[in-house]
Amino acid sequence: MLFKSVAQIYETLRDFAVYELDGRSSQDPSHVGHVVGCTALSIIWADLAEVRSLAVDEQYRGRGIGRQLVEWSADEARRLQIRRMMTLTYEQAFFEKLGFEVVAKENLPLKVWSDCVRCPKRDGCDEIAMVRVLADVPLVQMQPAPPTPKGVSIPVLQDSVED
Ligand SMILES: CC(C)(COP(=O)(O)OP(=O)(O)OC[C@H]1O[C@@H](n2cnc3c(N)ncnc32)[C@H](O)[C@@H]1OP(=O)(O)O)[C@@H](O)C(=O)NCCC(=O)NCCS
Repeated sequence: MLFKSVAQIYETLRDFAVYELDGRSSQDPSHVGHVVGCTALSIIWADLAEVRSLAVDEQYRGRGIGRQLVEWSADEARRLQIRRMMTLTYEQAFFEKLGFEVVAKENLPLKVWSDCVRCPKRDGCDEIAMVRVLADVPLVQMQPAPPTPKGVSIPVLQDSVED
């Protein structure tokens, strides 16, 4: 997963959902439970949103929490009427179980790669691009986001300030 500063998390806080054990109850709404998973859904384009920052605490994996977090993202995309969800991942088998299919990275809009400049793997990204279509969300007639040109490399400026 990519590093995020606390400031970046605040900037995108409304994208997030967490999975709480022993969560809030109506008797005590201020009670905070034990957070064991999180995910975020980030809007990319009119018809595309990205599932990001998905993680379940190692101790609690294999109990359906990851699935519930992805389904929360799907419900959020439906609420926003966004028809396609994408992810960049190493967990191909997990996402296949949740209805995602592998796509060529070039099929994703260039905007997806705006985070790459901050990523240590920017010169040799080996993540798998996957997409799930929410067939119950209507198609929008909008200009599509420009695709990523084949072989694109993200320019990174070297720090030229001398000590
Ligand atoms: C990927 C991850 C979120 C899965 O969370 P989880 O809570 O263990 O997943 P679930 O229990 O909801 O699994 C849902 C289904 O996927 C399957 N599954 C989960 N992880 C799998 C894996 N690595 N390979 C194959 N299948 C997997 C489960 O067996 C389950 O199948 P079932 O419904 O047929 O029983 C978790 O392993 C994780 O946090 N990994 C590290 C961070 C990461 O890689 N995040 C993805 C970034 S995009």
